Amino acid sequence: MLDTQKSFIPYLYTFASRVVVCMAVKTSPEYFVLLNQAVSRELQVSVQYMLQHTKMEKLMRKTIPENILLDKTTYDAVGTFLKDFAIQEMKHAAAIMERIYYLGGSATTKSDKPNIGDSLSAFARNGVEAEEEALVLYRRIIDEAGKLEDWQTREMFEKIYNEEEQHLFKFQEYVNFKDEPEEPETTSVSEWRKIFTPDYFDLLNKALASEISTIVQYTNQHEKASVLRLRMKSTPLEAIQESNKSKVVSDLLKTIFMAEMDHMEKISERIYLLEGEATYNPEPLPQVGETTEDFLKLDREAENYALVLYRKIIAEATKRGDTKTKLLFEDIISQEEDHYWTFDDYIK
Ligand SMILES: [Fe+2]
Ligand SMILES: [Fe+2]
Ligand SMILES: [Fe+2]
Ligand SMILES: [Fe+2]
Repeated sequence: MLDTQKSFIPYLYTFASRVVVCMAVKTSPEYFVLLNQAVSRELQVSVQYMLQHTKMEKLMRKTIPENILLDKTTYDAVGTFLKDFAIQEMKHAAAIMERIYYLGGSATTKSDKPNIGDSLSAFARNGVEAEEEALVLYRRIIDEAGKLEDWQTREMFEKIYNEEEQHLFKFQEYVNFKDEPEEPETTSVSEWRKIFTPDYFDLLNKALASEISTIVQYTNQHEKASVLRLRMKSTPLEAIQESNKSKVVSDLLKTIFMAEMDHMEKISERIYLLEGEATYNPEPLPQVGETTEDFLKLDREAENYALVLYRKIIAEATKRGDTKTKLLFEDIISQEEDHYWTFDDYIK
């Protein structure tokens, strides 16, 4: 027996017993609906806070405050915690997805509708609203989990609940922040900006939509892979091979996911700076699949979609003379190509 196999077996036993424990939880379709509601709202706030974070610089430029230093500090502080929250919310989504898979359910990729806003105080108000909704829902889940004696879920939501409460308090601090009135819409657009037409924003938003799609898809698959890892096969060798592959794919997805988050941030920041509105809807719709082989094929397809689209964006940006966008997408496309080959390498 190989060393790696030997060391793997106790590990499998540990988890196998954990799976058995989970199976002992008497779930119901309603319970999974409730848990998936939590996933949907975590996805919503993750995108909401990330888009608000990327809109911050534009807001700051538009605002002409009396005390410029004080206000800049506030904008910087809020911009920073919004990004931290966005990542934390995605981690919540991932943790809940993982739990759903453990319990034998299927985790959703569907998000509730983000609510962005146009000023710092609006961000804060929308944040307060979202966090309050979360707290109400999570109280209900904690209660239901207790009734089902699903202690792990209850404990997890208690921990998340505390974090949402921190978010709520943080947003409350800024609800009454005095924003300067928005500049009136200018009717004449400077010559250089005429290249940024609505169809151009549509194209850039397609890129943003595809990044959001991969973020949700890879997160969901990452959690599903971690459970597939534990699924027992007919022979120990089969179990080990499948487990290893799931582990490799799971690690891979985590790394690539971080890159996609970065792409999403940069693309939405660019859209906002050019005075466009950023989309929050994923397109194409995220697809999860059943096996690690499925994941890889779907992910390679997602990268293929991005490559074709980004090539088109680079051509369009070049044609219009939008050098900054062109450079941004040249950087991103080279990373997407790496992702494409990475997924391709693992497909049989
Ligand atoms: Fe959350
Ligand atoms: Fe939160
Ligand atoms: Fe990407
Ligand atoms: Fe990618």
